[in-house]
Amino acid sequence: MNALDPAGPVAQAIGSLFWWMVGVAALVYVTVLVAFAVAWKKGRRQLAALGDTDPSDAPPDVLRPSPRQLGIGVGIAAGITILILFAFLVADLGVNRALAAGPAGVVTIDLQGVQWWWKATYADNDPSKIVVTANEIHIPVGVPVQLRLTSNDVIHSVWIPSLAGKKDLVPGYTSRLWLRADRPGVYRGQCAEFCGHQHAKMGLTVVAQPSDEFNAWLEHQRQPAPAPDDSITAQGQKVFLTGPCAKCHTIAGTPAAATVGPNLTHLASRLTIAAGSLPMTRGALGGWIVDPQGIKPGARMPSNQLQPDQLQSLIAYLATLR
Ligand code: CUA
Repeated sequence: MNALDPAGPVAQAIGSLFWWMVGVAALVYVTVLVAFAVAWKKGRRQLAALGDTDPSDAPPDVLRPSPRQLGIGVGIAAGITILILFAFLVADLGVNRALAAGPAGVVTIDLQGVQWWWKATYADNDPSKIVVTANEIHIPVGVPVQLRLTSNDVIHSVWIPSLAGKKDLVPGYTSRLWLRADRPGVYRGQCAEFCGHQHAKMGLTVVAQPSDEFNAWLEHQRQPAPAPDDSITAQGQKVFLTGPCAKCHTIAGTPAAATVGPNLTHLASRLTIAAGSLPMTRGALGGWIVDPQGIKPGARMPSNQLQPDQLQSLIAYLATLR
């Protein structure tokens, strides 16, 4: 994550404001140091002019500016400070406006913060085309994207530093954030508001890709999960549907339709599991299923003591959910 490597106009506006602030602050700092050095030199010269006199015997007035000089100096410094702060106030409000309004989103994504993962829903007027996924969103490059942000538990905050500033997800209120990625890439996001035990492991992956690739991805996400095509994956699906998994998760195309945990219909197409905590590998998947509490203590997912052959077939099945 790098807020100083903007990949879109919103992050760019924030980045420019940041560099202006750093630049002006550096200038003020250097000016103060130079003024201090000049004053110090002047004092030394005045001391030298007193000759052999012990400085502590020198009349105080010799070493001090007059009240008039002092007043002018402090007045100028205070005036410049107020001007700088006012200019930044105006610039800050301007950037905030650019952040808040934005163009109408071509793609609208409802992003819900959940302890401790992200639920993403791609809105569509046709209900059969709505896509529900988790912890990884795809967006088309060069196109404005509207995020509608909600929460059902506590306050979260979404932050994708390369694409936009932070925005809170507040229970009972829908806030909005727009962003645009101007170059393809994988951008990491993070919950930026302390929301409980596993706040730190509430990562979001944003994949920005060319429009045709994005459309193909979205179309694929609309499809139900493929049916098992061999005995091992069929066994794995049975483990999923008859065990605890189906009590919390959905896999479209199967009877599993619970919405407590992330939708797993296309789980294996994602880059990470457990909200960015682990890479999408069979080993990580197995470790996560057996001992989520060891990886994210306090997570809502309980540990699952499965027989080795059950676990292997379950992993084999989940790996087919591309
Ligand atoms: Cu969600 Cu911090």
